[in-house]
Amino acid sequence: MLSTQQEQRVAEIDAIIERHGRSRSALIPILQDVQRRHDAIGDFAMQAIADRLGIHPVEVYGVVTFYAFLNEDCRGRFVIRLCRTISCDLAGRDAVANQLRNDLGIEFGGTTADGRFTLEWANCIGMCDQGPALLVNDQVFTHVTPEKVHDILSACTRAFGLHGAQEVQVR
Ligand code: FES
Repeated sequence: MLSTQQEQRVAEIDAIIERHGRSRSALIPILQDVQRRHDAIGDFAMQAIADRLGIHPVEVYGVVTFYAFLNEDCRGRFVIRLCRTISCDLAGRDAVANQLRNDLGIEFGGTTADGRFTLEWANCIGMCDQGPALLVNDQVFTHVTPEKVHDILSACTRAFGLHGAQEVQVR
């Protein structure tokens, strides 16, 4: 990060901390605000927040990695999480996983270069009798097949162009 970018980031973090205060209870709201501005909370921000709150960076890191709604890394607009637990595994998870890898051109844990999609594994999401199951952001898809992967990704691509679209509509 260039020093001017660092200075700008520090100024933003200072403004956020000014709003929330420096108590430990302010840590999560501060992290949420930093993430809202930058999609993720990187090492630099975690260190700067720790310095200003007078706590160890490991404590900040621990909070960021504990809560699923806080991210260390930038993610795509659509985060696809495919369940890898046993019922979905037996229902055909591998074929769905391979289709997702092929269609997106990334491995699990990766994000497409255009920033549209992040592909991740999930543990059981409570749809065991309707597997294979996956989440697109907070939206659940069940009985997913390789063919349905095409429909889901096309729907995401259509929704990408719609400002503020929250739901992926599969036709
Ligand atoms: S095993 Fe996949 S949703 Fe439970």
